[in-house]
Amino acid sequence: MTSRSSEDLDTLEHKALATLAACTTPAALETWRIAYLGRKGAVPTLLRRVKELPVAERRTVGERGNQLRRELEEAYEKKKSQLQPDVGDVHLPPTHYSLQPQPGHLHPITLATRRLQAIMAALGFRIVEGPEVEQEYFDFDALNISLEHPARAETDTFYVSPRHPHGQGLVLRTSTSAVQVRSVLADNLIPPFKITSPGRVFRNEKPDPTHESSFHQIEALMVGQRVTIADYRAVTETLFSTFFNRPVTIRLRPGYFPFVEPGFEVDMSCVFCQGGCRICQQSGWLEMGGAGMVHPNVLQNMNIDAQKFQGFAFGYGIDRLVMLQHNIPDIRLFWSGDLRFLRQFS
Ligand code: DAH
Repeated sequence: MTSRSSEDLDTLEHKALATLAACTTPAALETWRIAYLGRKGAVPTLLRRVKELPVAERRTVGERGNQLRRELEEAYEKKKSQLQPDVGDVHLPPTHYSLQPQPGHLHPITLATRRLQAIMAALGFRIVEGPEVEQEYFDFDALNISLEHPARAETDTFYVSPRHPHGQGLVLRTSTSAVQVRSVLADNLIPPFKITSPGRVFRNEKPDPTHESSFHQIEALMVGQRVTIADYRAVTETLFSTFFNRPVTIRLRPGYFPFVEPGFEVDMSCVFCQGGCRICQQSGWLEMGGAGMVHPNVLQNMNIDAQKFQGFAFGYGIDRLVMLQHNIPDIRLFWSGDLRFLRQFS
């Protein structure tokens, strides 16, 4: 009987280990566990029946049976850990953004502004600043914009103070051109000089894909004895070519702005195509902003002798430049606060 029980145990051990080795899925392993180690499994059943054996055999078979149970339990645990799905290195920090602080980064408009400033600085322009809440005088009067001009209406301009009959109130500046006369007077500039001023401007506009009530411009003003449209063209083409990292040319169309004469609407050769695409509406040209030769009245407001000096000024939309640079379809994305958009510029 002893030898019989021992034989049973040997066979059981063999079979158990062989079938365990064949398990390749957690489900198969669980079936195996139930068959051999479960409450009604082969090994516990065998151990339960030890007490039915003759006294002389109980001890050896019992010991051998317990040994087998421990052996199979160990083999089972080992196999279980091998079949564990790969969960990666559990010591790594979580990757889900809400569990981990994300480093911040600069806004795409800030990045572009810095780039434009660097290019202008390399061309010898000094960077100046003006306030976003501006005196009506610098935003309009100093720029030869009369009291009756439609741009001064409350439908177009945000007034910070009640509108003053003589135009002495405060507005959210409607363009960076406001910085022109302010800076020349504040810094007591005497020609020749070159200044540039990027910044935020405000207009009472209904937002749509190409309009926002707040956007950004970069202004430039260069005054000297012989400053001409050729200088203007060279500066602008260098600015745009460097910004877009490819050679571009500009085209001037007559345009009216009270603070320049002559004034131009400025187009840049399309940076996406040679001759016609969807973005330039098949024209090969992209509208970039305004420019012109500074009006004598404006020079006078700067205390500059318009008989002796002349200069150019320009103002371009920064948001527009960034939209072209990155193919952004809607200006409202810049201030949407949508991190999925913003993180693309980190
Ligand atoms: N201030 C103009 C605007 O916001 C742009 C502009 C036009 C600026 C002509 C200039 C200029 O300096 O000479 O639409």
